[in-house]
Amino acid sequence: MSRVSVLHTWQVPAATLTTVRKLLDEAFDGDFGDEDWEHSLGGVHALVWDGDELVGHGAVVQRRLIHAGRALRAGYVEGVGVRADRRRQGVGAAVMAALEDVVRGAYPLGALSASEDALEFYAARGWQRWRGRTFVLTPAGVERTEEEDDAIFVLPVAPLDLSGDLTCDWRDGDVW
Ligand SMILES: CC(C)(COP(=O)(O)OP(=O)(O)OC[C@H]1O[C@@H](n2cnc3c(N)ncnc32)[C@H](O)[C@@H]1OP(=O)(O)O)[C@@H](O)C(=O)NCCC(=O)NCCS
Repeated sequence: MSRVSVLHTWQVPAATLTTVRKLLDEAFDGDFGDEDWEHSLGGVHALVWDGDELVGHGAVVQRRLIHAGRALRAGYVEGVGVRADRRRQGVGAAVMAALEDVVRGAYPLGALSASEDALEFYAARGWQRWRGRTFVLTPAGVERTEEEDDAIFVLPVAPLDLSGDLTCDWRDGDVW
């Protein structure tokens, strides 16, 4: 029987954060770096527990996404991972249901960059693929992020033109 806890980073004990990082390192087969971890902090975490074992995690952090001349407050989903031996049992869905509640309650849109493996997972939950062009606002100006165009999904809470341009704010590591 699993249990979901929803906590801001400051409320998650340090030992649990270490467990989350380990889960994500394993879930991404070693392809989850320090910058990816940093991107997952400072927002709201959804933690799925089976007894005292952590089996799933995801987080929503706030970012600004520029669209149609406005800097939208976005709930950006990061660090979604489920322990390999617990996949296809609804754990990821439980993580996302909790995070989507946060997005719908606090932001005009949710957004995320999907891994190749998770495209169908997000689409099945009603997340919509961005159809327009994507960019990043770097310290040196706006740059196109063409390689990300097919991976960006949004959860519109207020109406959005999905075929328009979408520009994310700047950060170290993967910008989307
Ligand atoms: C993506 C991931 C989080 C999904 O977690 P999960 O617990 O297996 O997902 P669920 O069991 O809740 O799946 C819900 C639905 O999503 C879809 N889905 C999930 N994984 C899928 C896959 N590998 N292929 C196709 N559809 C998939 C299915 O519709 C599934 O429903 P079903 O099992 O009844 O067919 C998990 O596979 C994972 O941790 N992957 C590695 C890390 C990763 O890529 N994270 C996403 C980063 S953006």
